[in-house]
Amino acid sequence: MLVVLGATGNVGRELVARLAEAGEEVAAVARKAPEAPLPRRVRHVQGDLSSPASLAPHLKNASGVFLLIPGGGADISPQVLRELLETARVSRVVLLSSLAVDTRPLATSHAHLRAVEEGVRSLAVPWTLLRPGGFASNALAWVPSVRAERAIAAPFADVALPVVDPADIAAVADRALREEGHAGKVYTLTGPVAISPRQQATVISKALGTPLRFVEWSREEARSMMLRFMPEPVADGTLDILEAPTEAERRVSPDVEQVLGRPASLFSAWVERHVAAFRPPMGVSNPEI
Ligand SMILES: NC(=O)c1ccc[n+]([C@@H]2O[C@H](COP(=O)([O-])OP(=O)(O)OC[C@H]3O[C@@H](n4cnc5c(N)ncnc54)[C@H](OP(=O)(O)O)[C@@H]3O)[C@@H](O)[C@H]2O)c1
Repeated sequence: MLVVLGATGNVGRELVARLAEAGEEVAAVARKAPEAPLPRRVRHVQGDLSSPASLAPHLKNASGVFLLIPGGGADISPQVLRELLETARVSRVVLLSSLAVDTRPLATSHAHLRAVEEGVRSLAVPWTLLRPGGFASNALAWVPSVRAERAIAAPFADVALPVVDPADIAAVADRALREEGHAGKVYTLTGPVAISPRQQATVISKALGTPLRFVEWSREEARSMMLRFMPEPVADGTLDILEAPTEAERRVSPDVEQVLGRPASLFSAWVERHVAAFRPPMGVSNPEI
């Protein structure tokens, strides 16, 4: 049995679907039950990473575990997590980490994730680390303003980064969980080309067939918005990357293509699959347009 933590998230949802398609038995862990029905052979497991006792019975003897550290993750001790995986005798661990663990070695925003990586590296069983850059799905934060006002607001409008499709991360995780040859590997996962927020807005506008107004936020405006749903160090660490990415953060990584044998997906491919989310509900129209 394979265990997927964060099973209802951007990456976990795609991974669960892939594993189910391959006929695997999957325990899909999240605190809340999924909104959509689960595929056959997948069962929802209510578990909270902050309360390891809630996870222990479900991890026992798992043939593979996909692990992520949601939000800031500060309430999950890396030592406790490591002990949990060892005691459960899981056979393989794939950790969804972050590129920033490598590119921002001094950033407090990623100190906890770095400690979790170290814990996973010290496990006696095969492990794989996935270090993605920014997700294409971060664009979902623009859904309310696109639907309500046909507008997108973002800071650092022309700073381009190779955002990665969560489905590509899931596809690499799938390989790492079920194929030999990924033990001890650290994969940097990016999209195939750098794209700025303004260019992302253009792609969404084209997919919708509607002009969108782009508003460039100041760092402070973006920060106050981000603090509504993420801890301060994570907001500041993320803004540092968006404002002045290092060369390593701008670089397109070959790892998705090397693992999957096909190029990483473009941002436009992610938009095509999610364009419906950006459309206003039927019957609601903007009188300005
Ligand atoms: N977004 C980016 O640009 C980016 C870049 C690099 C790395 N990352 C990493 O990617 C991860 C987020 O991945 P994602 O976007 O796929 O996730 P997501 O869409 O934010 O979803 C989080 C998932 O984790 C579950 N979850 C949240 N808190 C939990 C808890 N305490 N115990 C158990 N499950 C919990 C959620 O379900 P419930 O709420 O029902 O529990 C949900 O299934 C983070 O670790 C982040 O560091 C993100």
